[in-house]
Amino acid sequence: MMSPDSEILLEHPDRNLAMELVRATEAAAIRAVPWIGRGDKLGADGAAVDAMRAFLGTVNFDGLVVIGEGEKDAAPMLFNGEAVGNGRGPACDIAVDPIDGTSLTAAGRQNALSVIAVSERGTMLDASSVFYMDKIVTGPEGIGVIDIRRPIAENLRALAAAKNKDVGDLRVAVLDRPRHEQLIADIREAGAGTRLMLDGDVAGGINAARYESRIDMCVGIGGSPEGITTACAIKALGGFMQGVLAPRDDAERARGEAAGLDLDKVYGVDDLVSGDNTFFVATGVTDGGLVQGVRRKGPIIRTDSIVLRSRSGTIRRVQADHLVEKWLDEADR
Ligand code: FBP
Repeated sequence: MMSPDSEILLEHPDRNLAMELVRATEAAAIRAVPWIGRGDKLGADGAAVDAMRAFLGTVNFDGLVVIGEGEKDAAPMLFNGEAVGNGRGPACDIAVDPIDGTSLTAAGRQNALSVIAVSERGTMLDASSVFYMDKIVTGPEGIGVIDIRRPIAENLRALAAAKNKDVGDLRVAVLDRPRHEQLIADIREAGAGTRLMLDGDVAGGINAARYESRIDMCVGIGGSPEGITTACAIKALGGFMQGVLAPRDDAERARGEAAGLDLDKVYGVDDLVSGDNTFFVATGVTDGGLVQGVRRKGPIIRTDSIVLRSRSGTIRRVQADHLVEKWLDEADR
């Protein structure tokens, strides 16, 4: 018979879940490798989605995809509202990004990641009706001193003071997009340096929040789904994050409002993901500042992942060696 303790373990996601989830991002990253540099982002994404989905099916949890690969009709796999897991564990919300950086992967560029974030059921904001979110992320020094509504120069001065640095020593990650032309100019005008990202603002956000990183802040408009995923990681890192939804037009604004979102609200990290039992796992597809990409070493495929858990506040680095023969078709060995 089950003890009361084991019943509790089944109701709440426990530490073992993180290690189970990392198997799914490892699988997605490994399966994406043949697509690196092939110019086919849909092919890369499809391979990663299939692998992630297959592995998630074996995980002991009752997962509901809140942030997925779009709507059911557009993407048959890992769509918003899909049930994942074997259904025999804690009820959880899950955000999946089988590849954050599909274009990077297709081009053979750095910084593509496979990502999963999990929190207890009903705690993840479903922001999927509004595609973009304006975000600002820093380490813990930003708490109480940064406000996304203020001009960037003021926020940079406040962060520099809190970090006991000169503004000139701050490095700010921003997606390299025409919409950020003024923001980039303002950051430079304030005296800070930019680190322009081609894609992948999940890694940018984590790098801004993590101890010992060379990035001090990540700012600008990126995907809303990526905002929720990043928030799960920021909770585990004890960092600072704010987000404001950025609808592209009135129709999207209306869809967001109809979905119950507040388009004028500054969402704090606890609004993006409430509760304090979040998990974030990411495996490198291609090399990056956060983790290394998948690499082949003789009979071994090596993966590099990070595993974050908010309840314990731990960041684990997981390097795994997988036997090539278990992963490749006979013709590819
Ligand atoms: P995907 O690889 O999942 O398409 O996302 C890449 C990404 O760079 C995200 O990291 C970022 O949040 C978003 O796209 C930015 O969107 P856009 O490319 O439209 O500016």
